[in-house]
Amino acid sequence: MARTIQHIIQKKHQGERVVALTASDYLLAGVLDQAGVDIILVGDSLGMVTLGYATTLPVTMDDMVHHAKAVCRGVKQALVVVDLPFLSYQSSLEQSILSAGRILKETGAQAVKVEGGQPFMVEAIERLVQIGIPVMGHVGLTPQSVHQVGGFRRQGTTPETEEIILAQALALERAGIFALVLEHIPSSLAAQLTKSLAIPTIGIGAGTSCDGQILVTADLLGLSEWHPPFVKPYANLRSLILDTVQAFAADVRSY
Ligand code: KIV
Repeated sequence: MARTIQHIIQKKHQGERVVALTASDYLLAGVLDQAGVDIILVGDSLGMVTLGYATTLPVTMDDMVHHAKAVCRGVKQALVVVDLPFLSYQSSLEQSILSAGRILKETGAQAVKVEGGQPFMVEAIERLVQIGIPVMGHVGLTPQSVHQVGGFRRQGTTPETEEIILAQALALERAGIFALVLEHIPSSLAAQLTKSLAIPTIGIGAGTSCDGQILVTADLLGLSEWHPPFVKPYANLRSLILDTVQAFAADVRSY
C-alpha cells in the first residue's frame, strides 16, 4: 500500500521504526522502493553527491524539480518528500507557498522538507499545512546554514543550544509538521525530543533512540568520496564499481 503521512505518524504510535533514505534518480529510487523504504527524500544533499558542489547552497528549485520528477517515476510505495533548497522559502511567506506548491504540482511528490525552526519558519509551515501541503521539519545541523554555524558541526552541545532546539521542535510540531529530522545532535537530546513529541523523529547522526533513521544513500552504500563521521557504510560500492570498470577496460584493451 502506498505510504501516506498518516502511515508515518501511526508508526510512532505502533512502536515501529521509520526507514528513510535519499534518492535523486529514477533507477535508485526504484530499488529503494522495492526494498520497502518508508520515506524517500529527494534531499538537497543531491547538490553535493549528484551535482558535485561543496555545499547544498547552489541547488536551485529547477534542480529539485528535475530530480524529484525522476524519483517519483521510480516510486510506487514510499512517501516521497522533497527538500526546498536554499533561498526558495526564506524570503517571504508567498515565496514559501509558491515553492512548496510547485514541488507538489510538478513532481508528484507528497510532501516538502524545510530547514530551521525560527519564528518566521514556524509561521510559513503553519500556512503550508493549512493549505494542504504536508511538511517535514529539520533541526540540529541544518546544512543550508553551514557558513553561519562554521562547518558541518554537531549542534545542541551546550545547555543553551539544547534549549533552542527543544523549543524549535515543539513550535514546529504545533505548526503541523508530520515528522522531524534531527541531524547531528547528541543522542541524549534526540532521546528527549523523541519522548516530548507526538510526531516521529527521524535521526541522522542523532543516536538510536529516534523513531526512525535517514541516511544519504551514497554514504550508506560507500559510494561517496567522503562521508560524515557518524555514518556506517553498509557496502563499498565505490571499490566494487572501480574493480568492475577496470575489469571491463582490461577486457576491451585486450581485444
Ligand atoms: O539533504 C538531505 O539529504 C537531508 C538529509 C541528510 C536529512 O536533508
